[in-house]
Amino acid sequence: PEAAARDGKRSNFFSEQEAWEEQQIRKSRLHFGSGDGVPAGGGYELVLEDMVDFVKSTVQAGAEPDGEMDELAEAVDAKVTLQRELQNERKNLPVYKFKDDLLKAIEKYQVLIIVGETGSGKTTQIPQYLHEAGYTAKGKKIACTQPRRVAAMSVAARVAQELGVKLGHEVGYSIRFEDCTSDKTMIKYMTDGMLLREFLGEPDLASYSMVIVDEAHERTLSTDILFGLVKDIARFRPDVKLLISSATLNAERFSDFFDEAPIFKIPGRRYKVDIHYTTAPEADYIAAAVVTVLQLHVKQPAGDILLFLTGQEEIETVEELLKQKMMTVGSKIAELVICPIYANLPTELQGKIFEPTPEGARKVVLATNIAETSLTIDGIKYVIDPGFCKLKSYNPRTGMESLRVEPISKASADQRAGRSGRTGPGKCFRLFTEYNFRHDLDDDTVPEIQRSNLANVVLRLKALGINDLVGFDFMDPPASEALLKALEELFALGALNSRGELTKTGRRMAEFPLDPMLSKAIVASEKYGCSEEVVTIAAMLSAGNAFFYRPKDKLVLADTARQAFHAGNVGDHVALLNVYNAWRESGYSSQWCRENFVQPRTMKRARDVRDQLEALLERLEIEHCSGAGDLDGIRKAVTAGYFRNAARRQKDGSYRAVKSRQTVFVHPSSGTAELPPTWVVYHELVLTRKEYMRQVTELKPEWLLEIAPHYYQRKDIDGHEPKKKAKDKGPATRQT
Ligand code: CDP
Ligand code: MG
Repeated sequence: PEAAARDGKRSNFFSEQEAWEEQQIRKSRLHFGSGDGVPAGGGYELVLEDMVDFVKSTVQAGAEPDGEMDELAEAVDAKVTLQRELQNERKNLPVYKFKDDLLKAIEKYQVLIIVGETGSGKTTQIPQYLHEAGYTAKGKKIACTQPRRVAAMSVAARVAQELGVKLGHEVGYSIRFEDCTSDKTMIKYMTDGMLLREFLGEPDLASYSMVIVDEAHERTLSTDILFGLVKDIARFRPDVKLLISSATLNAERFSDFFDEAPIFKIPGRRYKVDIHYTTAPEADYIAAAVVTVLQLHVKQPAGDILLFLTGQEEIETVEELLKQKMMTVGSKIAELVICPIYANLPTELQGKIFEPTPEGARKVVLATNIAETSLTIDGIKYVIDPGFCKLKSYNPRTGMESLRVEPISKASADQRAGRSGRTGPGKCFRLFTEYNFRHDLDDDTVPEIQRSNLANVVLRLKALGINDLVGFDFMDPPASEALLKALEELFALGALNSRGELTKTGRRMAEFPLDPMLSKAIVASEKYGCSEEVVTIAAMLSAGNAFFYRPKDKLVLADTARQAFHAGNVGDHVALLNVYNAWRESGYSSQWCRENFVQPRTMKRARDVRDQLEALLERLEIEHCSGAGDLDGIRKAVTAGYFRNAARRQKDGSYRAVKSRQTVFVHPSSGTAELPPTWVVYHELVLTRKEYMRQVTELKPEWLLEIAPHYYQRKDIDGHEPKKKAKDKGPATRQT
């Protein structure tokens, strides 16, 4: 099972039903003494056709039907029933009635805009219709992009199930660091960022007959760039078809952009939704949300609840609060099934939100924006909307990005409310006032391209040979100041020369699915003789933030274990390296993780990421080298990427970012918090109560002059105050 999980081919919908089926097949495998006839991959994702084949071949082989054969036959029966139900559900989706018209329109027009209420079946059904209609003949594929990786995974799993095939075979998905596709794959769900990456290897997307840019209304950075690129492809590839699919009615903008492409509307069914506002603004929307969930649960007729929160931390807090409250009321009220869903939720738990609510109980889904349009959960009757989401914002003066909790737009609020009226009349409880809604909320969310650091995108476009960025076909162009800042940043990293052309370093950097600063650190590590170590650090940084855990009853033990990785006290980057290496020496053991209070899941992910980065080193002919023990070399390589994030300690114990002059603090989780060094370089800033630097490493100030002489001058490190004092909000902040 570990190997199956590691190659990412394992289904993320490991429900009880499947667990039971697996058990059945294991039994039968034991019985027949070999794995013959059992599908590859450990038998985790048994599908109808395989099971039928298996039964047939065993019977043909002359096996005596016995008790276990009966059980197997029952399992097949169950599958058949499930399939029949699924096929009925498919026919009940609003898009089904328009199947023929839709196929005709697609046949007739090269580019088509599709608009339909969320949940009408656009994402799951249209690729299947196209597949049936022959668009996947001659080895061509259908691409369907999603702004969120959870959506890509879960939709692919659903479609594989509907088609009765194994996930990763005919239907697959591709997200960063996880490719769940094969040679057989015909329908490929992928994040918009991954399709963008595919342009590097295949600039005309020749292997696709059809590109569906789904959830176009979300207007993510990658989707906006894709618009320009696919529009261009459609011009010189008459054989390719383009579908732009959106949940909002304001589709004219898409049509305008794609040369007046026709709009195909799928009339949705949306029942009446009663909207309730609070009479006064809520000071604490978390507390208000918890109270509202409980009140609804006690007072309202049957129907599930969907609560929108801004991120994992909030979701976990609310989950905890609800559990406590439910415990205190005991069995006096009906069961409340709490289902969280957010991007980093372990895949094996993601399927839970789609499981039917048990009789007599009520389900409450705690979701991020992902449930606004990307995922439809059946049975929702009540929506609770505190009115916030996490949004990226960008300060072009400093070139720094931050993730902040912001009020949502009117359009978002309406989408959220609509989630309660899919299968019958619904109710939406807004935890803000009607005055608030009318006067304080923007009509629409500003497209991400206008509130992002563009360094990554500019690097990608340059690598695709697109040099004229101002002339690029943007639906909404970014501020020229932001483009300029991105060029400057890439120049400082050595990715572009003074004429704005991609350098060899830049070309290598563009190949890594990482932020430019991190890919620069890897590319630079060759020079410092430590690519092995820096790739490990990069993998650890990319795998997430949850490496250590602190059980409440073992705080001291956990902290001691963690501090042990900080021997030498040179910083968190080296500590991450120490963690990984110790785990590797233990033979990647889970036991080791438990003993050291390290999260095995995050470590496994780091190992996956590391394997992939290592393969890239190979391909880019970056030398594998290890500077075992040369901590200076490792820290210099990190600095080569992150020199812009240098900070110096002040008398009062705070730090000041050398260039932006922003006051920042060492995150309490940092190993350097106990013995703070004078000069540091940090990975990122997180904004909680203060601006905290996360993953901090000690630095020698001369290194800044040695590594980035074009960026730092002696006066920066000698401590003279620069003449002009920037009044910027400050460097990259990322709220946790
Ligand atoms: O894309 P659109 O919003 O139009 O609809 P969809 O995502 O294709 O959803 C159609 C139906 O499939 C809904 O009833 C969903 O509940 C269901 N679905 C599901 O059960 N499991 C998934 N992972 C995705 C969709
Ligand atoms: Mg959809």
